Amino acid sequence: MTPQDQSSPQSGVDFTVNGKPVRVGGSPIRRLADTLRDDLGLTGTKIGCNAGDCGACTVLLDGRQICACLTPLGQVAGRSVTTVEGLVEADGRLSALQAAFHRLGAAQCGICTPGMLMAARDLLDRDAAPDAEAVRDALGGVLCRCTGYTKIVEAVLAAVGGQSADADALTPKALSGAAVGARLAKTDGLPKLTGGEIYGGDHAPADALTLRAIRSPHARAGFEIGDLAAFRARHPGVALILTATDVPSNGYGIYPTVKDQPVLAEGHVRYRGEAVLALVGDAETLASIPEDAVPIRWTPLPPLTGVAAALAPGAPALHASLPDNVLTRGRVVSGDLEAAFAKADVTAEGAFETAFVEHAYIEPEAGFARRVGDRIEVVACTQTPYMDRDEIAIVLKLQPDQVRVIPTATGGGFGGKLDLSVQPLIALAAWILNRPVRWTYSRPESMAASTKRHPASIRCRVAADKAGNLLAVDFDGDFDTGAYASWGPTVANRVPVHASGPYRVAAVRALSRAIHTNAPPSGAFRGFGVPQTAIATEQLLDDLALQLGLDPLEFRRRNALRAGDATASGQVLAHSVGLVACLDALEPSWKRARAEAEAFNATAKGPIRKGAGLACMWYGIGNTSLSNPSTMRLGLTREGRLTLFNGALDIGQGSNTIMMQIAADAFGAPIERMDLVQGDTDLTADAGKTSASRQTFVSGRAAYLAGLDLRAKLLRLGNVGDSATTRLIDGAALLTAGAAERRVDLSALPIDAAGCVLIGEGTFDPPATPLDADGQGVPYASYGFAAQTAEIDIDIDLGAVRVARITAAHDVGKAINPIQVEGQIQGGVAQGLGLALMEEYVPGRTENLHDYLIPTIGDIPPIECLLIEDAEPLGPYGAKGIGEPALIPTAPAIFNAIRHATGIRVARAPATPDRLRAALKAAGVVT
Ligand code: FES
Repeated sequence: MTPQDQSSPQSGVDFTVNGKPVRVGGSPIRRLADTLRDDLGLTGTKIGCNAGDCGACTVLLDGRQICACLTPLGQVAGRSVTTVEGLVEADGRLSALQAAFHRLGAAQCGICTPGMLMAARDLLDRDAAPDAEAVRDALGGVLCRCTGYTKIVEAVLAAVGGQSADADALTPKALSGAAVGARLAKTDGLPKLTGGEIYGGDHAPADALTLRAIRSPHARAGFEIGDLAAFRARHPGVALILTATDVPSNGYGIYPTVKDQPVLAEGHVRYRGEAVLALVGDAETLASIPEDAVPIRWTPLPPLTGVAAALAPGAPALHASLPDNVLTRGRVVSGDLEAAFAKADVTAEGAFETAFVEHAYIEPEAGFARRVGDRIEVVACTQTPYMDRDEIAIVLKLQPDQVRVIPTATGGGFGGKLDLSVQPLIALAAWILNRPVRWTYSRPESMAASTKRHPASIRCRVAADKAGNLLAVDFDGDFDTGAYASWGPTVANRVPVHASGPYRVAAVRALSRAIHTNAPPSGAFRGFGVPQTAIATEQLLDDLALQLGLDPLEFRRRNALRAGDATASGQVLAHSVGLVACLDALEPSWKRARAEAEAFNATAKGPIRKGAGLACMWYGIGNTSLSNPSTMRLGLTREGRLTLFNGALDIGQGSNTIMMQIAADAFGAPIERMDLVQGDTDLTADAGKTSASRQTFVSGRAAYLAGLDLRAKLLRLGNVGDSATTRLIDGAALLTAGAAERRVDLSALPIDAAGCVLIGEGTFDPPATPLDADGQGVPYASYGFAAQTAEIDIDIDLGAVRVARITAAHDVGKAINPIQVEGQIQGGVAQGLGLALMEEYVPGRTENLHDYLIPTIGDIPPIECLLIEDAEPLGPYGAKGIGEPALIPTAPAIFNAIRHATGIRVARAPATPDRLRAALKAAGVVT
C-alpha cells in the first residue's frame, strides 16, 4: 500500500505518532501541527508563526526534522512522526537530551524547547559525536528569543554519552541554608522538556468559541461600520459581533491619567493593526470570512510618520488633549552646564537614530475567558496578572474581585506582555455570551498589534578635561511613542535619569520627550529607553577617549561611579556600585582583544578588519520614583511541606526557582520540601509586574521576609527561641535549641483556606522619592552596573559584521542562581546584538519572522559571563536585578568595536550592511 492509498478525506490518514498507530480524519491538506495539537492533544508541538520561520513546531518525520506547520497531513500517511512527548522513555524517564537541557538551564520560557529538542534528536541520531558547529547547523531552523542559544548548544553536546534520568533525579535539591548561590536547575523546569507545559494557546474548554479581530489596514483613517445585521445573517456561525459601543468602558492604560487606548477603535484609527471590530463564533466560520466581507468603510488620512512629522508646525493633533503631540517630557538637570563646557579641553557630539524593535517572543498572545456566575476568569499568558485584573475590571465595569486572572506559562515577554492583548475582548465576549471564548494571535497579528521598542532620535554632546575627567553631558532625546501611551511616560522618565551613564559628571542636562505618531504604540521593552540612550552616550565617550589618547576602559574607570558618589539626580549611592569591579574583571580580555585586533589590522590585506569595543551601563531596579511593592506568602502544610504563594510571574527568567531558593533559605528548609503556587490572582498576593528587572530584588526581598515570618511563627508555636533550628519531616516540625528538640505535630493543626497550618507573609516596597522639576530625588533604591566588550570582524567591502565574542561583566549584588543569571546575560546579549545589527520593525513590511530578522543560533558568538557580587543591603542576600542590564551595553559595545575596526561611528541602529557600506564609503574607507 502506498502512502497515497492511506490518505483520503473519506477514510482519514493513518500514520504513527510516538510509536503508536493513529487514524485522523479531515482534509489531507490540513497542517500536521494542527492535527497533532487539536486532534491528538499533543500540544507539546508549539506554533509560533505557522509559516516555517520559527521552528517551534519542529517534529521528526521518519526520524528527520520538519516543520509541522508546513507539512500537510496527507504527506505523513503511512509514516512515523515523533513529537517531544515521544522523547520521554517508556518508563517515564527523561532522555539524556532532556536531562541535559534541564541541568544546564537550556530552557528559559520553554516555548522553543520542544523544537530545539527535536532538531537535536535528529542530529544525535545521525551524528554520535557532533561538535558545536554541527549543533548550530542542525538547530539553525529553530529560533529562541530567551537564551542566546549558548546553553542550548552546551546541553546538546553534554547529552552525548549522557544518561536518561527520572524526575526525582532531576528535582533540584539543596540542603537547608544552601540554596542561595547554588547552580540549581529550574524547580518548575521539567514540563518545559516533556511537552507538558501549558501556554496561552494550548487549552480551552471544549465548548469555547473563537474570537477574531478585524484590524485597520491604515495607519490613520476614519471609518464607518455598515449593516452588521445583514452581515450576521450571511454568516450564521457568527455568535456575536463586538464594536466600540459594546465595550462598557472603552479605554485602558497603565496610568490613571492616560487611559487612552480603546479596546476597539471609535470612528477613527491611529495605527495600522488597530482593532475596530471583533467577531465571535466557531473557528471554521471565522476563518472562512474574507476581511473585505466585513462591512467597514474606510476614509484613509495622511499618517504622521516619525517624530519630526508629528512635531512639525500644523501637524494634526492625534489626541485632542495633546495639541503638540507630546505625550510627556522628562528632565534631569544638575551643575552648571555652560561653565562645564567652557572649561572643557575636548568635546564630542552626535545625532543618533534607532528603529522600532519587535519583542518577537516565540509565543503569540493567547488565552481564553469564561464566566463563572458574576465573575469572569481569564486564563492567558501575561507578565502582570494583577494589573490585568484591574484593567479588565475597568473595561467590563466590574469590581476587581469579580475578575480572576490565571496566568498560563508565558512563552517570552520582554515587556510586550505587560499591555493587555487578548484579555479584554475574550473577557467581554465570554461575559456577554456566558460561554467560554478563546483567542490566539496569528504571528502577523501579534507583530502588528503589539507594542514596540521606542525609536529614538537623540542629540548629545559630552565634554572632558585633559586629565580625563568627564565634565558635561548635554542630552536631548525624542522617543516615538506611537499611537497610544502604553509605557511611553515610563520611558520618558527613565531616560534622563540614565542619560549621563554610570559616571561622575559635573554638569548634566538630560531632556526627553515621548511623542505620538501613527505608528504602533511603543511600550516596555527590556530597558525602557536606556538601551537607545547608551548607544549615543557610550559612542561619544569613545570619541572623548580617542581625543585624549586614553584607553576607553581606563577613561571609563577614571569616571565610574563609586560608593559615596552622587548621581545626576543628586542621589548618593551608598552601597553596591560595582562598575569598577566589572571593568577590572574585563581588563585582561579587553587588552588582549584590542591588541589582537590592532595587530591583525596592521597587516590586513583583504576586506576583513577586526575591532574590540567596550560599553558600560547602569540601570535603576524597579519603577522610577513610584511605589513598587511586592507581597509574598509562604505556607506550612500539615504534611510538613512548604508552599510558596508567588504572584511574581516567571516568564522564563527563572524567578520561580529564585523565589523558592530565597524563601527556603530564609525559613531554613531544603528547597525540595517546597511547592509552588504561581500567579493566580485568587491564590497569590500582588507581587507587581515582571518588568524593570525588579522581581529578584523586590519580590525576592518579599519572599525572604515571608520565610523569616513563617519561621518566627513556627518558633513561637513551638515556644522556642529565635536561635532554634527547624527541620521539617512528614507531618511535623522538629525545633532544636541547644540539646533540646521540640516536636510540633502539624498533622493535627487546623488549616486555612489555602490548606496551610501557618502562613508567613513578607512585603517589600523599595524606598524611592518623587523627582522634582529638575529630576532631583531618589528615583531607585538600587542600581545594576555592567560593562561588556565586543569583538567583531567586519567585511568593509560588504559592510557585514560578525560578532566574534562578547565578554560581559555584571554586578548583580548576589547571584542567587548563577545558571539563571548567566542565562539572562546570554539572552540579553543576543537581543542587544539584534538591536545593533539587524532588527527593524516596519509596519506592513516586516510583520513576520521571515522579514523581521532576529538572531539565529548561527549569529551568536561565545559569550563569557563574569559575575560581580557587590552586595546590595536591601536585596535578598544582597541580590539586585539582571534582566534588562544584560542587554543594554551590547549594542554600543558592538558599535565601538566597529569604530575601532574602521574609524566610523554608527549613527543609526540597526547597523545593517547597506548602512555600514554607505558610511564606510562616505568616510573614504572604501570606494
Ligand atoms: Fe527559547 Fe524562550 S526559551 S524562546
